[in-house]
Amino acid sequence: ETGLFTYDPGYTATASCESQITYIDGDEGVLLYRGYPIEELAENSDFLEVAYLLLHGELPTRGQQNEFNRAITLHTMVHEQLKNFYNGFRRDAHPMAIMVGVVGALSAFYHDSTDITDKKQRMIASHRMIAKMPTIAAMAYKYSIGQPFIFPRNDLSYTANFMRMCFAVPAEEYEVNPVLCDALDKIFILHMDHEQNASTSTVRLAGSSGANPFACIAAGIASLWGPAHGGANEAALNMLEEIGTPERIPEYIARAKDKNDPFRLMGFGHRVYKNYDPRAKVMQKACHEVLAALGVKNDPLLETAMELERIALSDDYFIEKKLYPNIDFYSGITLKALGFPTTMFTVLFALARTVGWIAQWTEMIEDDNQRIGRPRQIYTGARQRCYAPIHKR
Ligand code: SDX
Repeated sequence: ETGLFTYDPGYTATASCESQITYIDGDEGVLLYRGYPIEELAENSDFLEVAYLLLHGELPTRGQQNEFNRAITLHTMVHEQLKNFYNGFRRDAHPMAIMVGVVGALSAFYHDSTDITDKKQRMIASHRMIAKMPTIAAMAYKYSIGQPFIFPRNDLSYTANFMRMCFAVPAEEYEVNPVLCDALDKIFILHMDHEQNASTSTVRLAGSSGANPFACIAAGIASLWGPAHGGANEAALNMLEEIGTPERIPEYIARAKDKNDPFRLMGFGHRVYKNYDPRAKVMQKACHEVLAALGVKNDPLLETAMELERIALSDDYFIEKKLYPNIDFYSGITLKALGFPTTMFTVLFALARTVGWIAQWTEMIEDDNQRIGRPRQIYTGARQRCYAPIHKR
């Protein structure tokens, strides 16, 4: 018999962890990385400088930055045998499926040399993870289009190296467009960390058991893939392409408001932001910069997105529920204009978020009070009862 339980969990919901890395004020639409506003970092910094900041807590001196860049550059290549993992996937496998598999496989190459109780080995593992993600991601893309893998080059910046590994072919020279590269670098900064979101919490929980960091990052990639989380950038672009023209927007707004319709406006709403996601503003600006650099005028997707935002933000339902565009609303348009297929959008999100995941994993491991994670539950199942043999059921 299952009696109705009245329960008193006997505890108030407590924060899952303390952290000094990222601060979000959802009501005010504020996002700080180690105290610096995301808008200032996106405007003035670059990927590896912000990566240093997230890992070490302070902006680097020139000497520290050069040493950090060198350390990352030294680890951009992957073991030749890692390439065999790609051949196990069908060519049309979703690149996120490949990322989960190949990043998890890094454990097999580095597990024995990653004693996570040793600070130096933790730092090398962090450098390896940050350095290899662009190479692994670019290889996933090349594999999906049947082109040969392109080796990393040590003379290029982090983001330029990634673009070249994605878009260069052995048959001809490839020049990275500095404006497009700068825009992608900015986009990576926007995606680097975001407090205790679903994928970061996954990495922390996996890491709390002492699992190696490569396996933890693979778990984070799996969580990020969901359309309610990092998969929303791909879903948002698919939605905008399905809407097609501004004339069809009211139909989709009505669906988003219909409680009986599971449809959600992709790229809208947020667990924390009840104001405009500050990253969405920077993303929209980057989108205009990329399209202008490519000489694209009146991009239909951007026009539909901006009209959708205008209508939604003046609609009582969205105002009452405090639903605003989030980082994923404009990112898909920008990434498509940069030449990436929709299936690579969440891979790029994972590439950038690896810095936040690794910084949060390190913070957790180095916390002397850290214990294995054990989320509480409220039991609402059957009362204790006796087994009944099958002939009596
Ligand atoms: C990311 O956590 C992070 O920080 C994540 C992230 C990061 O950097 O790691 O910021 C990245 O994941 C951004 C979010 C990307 N996901 C999407 O854009 C998918 C579409 N968004 C929704 O699925 C939704 O907004 C969530 C999942 C993001 C948040 O869901 P919640 O917590 O249920 O949102 P809420 O509590 O604010 O919702 C309030 C109401 C609810 O209706 P009621 O139950 O009150 O009747 O608004 C509704 C929701 O159903 N609602 C939407 C909506 N989002 C919420 N209705 C229509 N369209 C939407 N997009």
